[in-house]
Amino acid sequence: MNNQEGTILITGGAGFIGSNFIQYFMGEHPNVTILNIDKLTYAGSTDNLKEVERSDRYQFIHGDIAHVSLVKHVFQNYDIRGVIHFAAESHVDRSIEDSRAFIESNVLGTMTLLQAARDDWEKKGEISSRRFHQISTDEIYGSLGSDGKFSEETTYDPRNPYSASKAGANLLVKSFGYTYGMNIVISSSSNNYGPKQHKEKLIPTIIRKALAGEHIPIYGDGKNIRDWLYVEDHCRALDAIYHQGKPLETYNVGGGNEKTNIAIAKQICDILDQIKPEIKLQAGIHSFKELITFTEDRKGHDRRYAVDDRKLRNELGWKPKEDLDDALRKTVEWYVKQWNLQTNR
Ligand SMILES: NC(=O)c1ccc[n+]([C@@H]2O[C@H](COP(=O)([O-])OP(=O)(O)OC[C@H]3O[C@@H](n4cnc5c(N)ncnc54)[C@H](O)[C@@H]3O)[C@@H](O)[C@H]2O)c1
Repeated sequence: MNNQEGTILITGGAGFIGSNFIQYFMGEHPNVTILNIDKLTYAGSTDNLKEVERSDRYQFIHGDIAHVSLVKHVFQNYDIRGVIHFAAESHVDRSIEDSRAFIESNVLGTMTLLQAARDDWEKKGEISSRRFHQISTDEIYGSLGSDGKFSEETTYDPRNPYSASKAGANLLVKSFGYTYGMNIVISSSSNNYGPKQHKEKLIPTIIRKALAGEHIPIYGDGKNIRDWLYVEDHCRALDAIYHQGKPLETYNVGGGNEKTNIAIAKQICDILDQIKPEIKLQAGIHSFKELITFTEDRKGHDRRYAVDDRKLRNELGWKPKEDLDDALRKTVEWYVKQWNLQTNR
């Protein structure tokens, strides 16, 4: 069990999952102070942190986790009790275009954090007690056929530069655990959905394009399968893993919701048909589904991901609270509300 008090360093907390996590974690742990370091790339925004930014238990540092002297300075100036490391370049399509930033942030950035944490915690005689929690993805395991699931024992087999960079980071994290006795833990989750996700990702893209009355692009035949996890369920899993996960262990986090991309797109269109009928009429269509268009497939597009998370359920007692149908509706409503505000509707 880790100390639940003091300053926790969150990296990448201005992004989708990090910002949801900070809000959740500060609510759950009133004695914790959060220090959030984020480079504010195209994917990060301090707008995602409005709910916490005025709290005296929250502090923001605008900076790059791969910047050695900055990260050292952070550890020298704050007594960091633990690190929960979200910061990463996270968009597969961008990594296929150019992978350099993925290696710089995801691999070198992780190494820089590990090194600074190790130096500081060794000096304090706390290398084996203070926790380093690496946030990872099921994409490190590669692609599945029509059956089977990824377990924690599945061999890493990344198929695109993003997942390769995340697998590389995980291996570095493990190596610091084995070599220096650092108290590391890794969690690998499936695809998240929920509020505050960057507009380029699948679910926000479907909603954004539909509301604009534009074609909704779906890669290939739309039959690629992902296991959808509501972001708040992920946050609860991370809280349990950070506090109770065993050192050197990996915990998979899944949603138990395997869906093809085309099924997700159609479900979102059904929800929008009900809540935004006037846009449909303006676009001269009977259903937003008419806007769905298949595009050339993503290079190296993994066919199916599914996560076996029995270890997390059995050992730490976690299970998702949200049902996909309800949580997807809630998510669509959130994006529609943002769109209404932006377009003065
Ligand atoms: N979104 C998912 O479905 C999903 C699933 C499994 C795992 N993950 C992992 O969870 C983590 C967060 O994902 P997300 O979807 O919130 O990503 P995101 O792209 O929304 O946010 C990433 C954040 O990291 C920041 N960042 C990037 N490089 C940085 C650097 N060098 N220094 C400091 N900050 C930097 C960005 O500014 C941004 O705020 C990532 O590590 C990702 O690999 C995501």
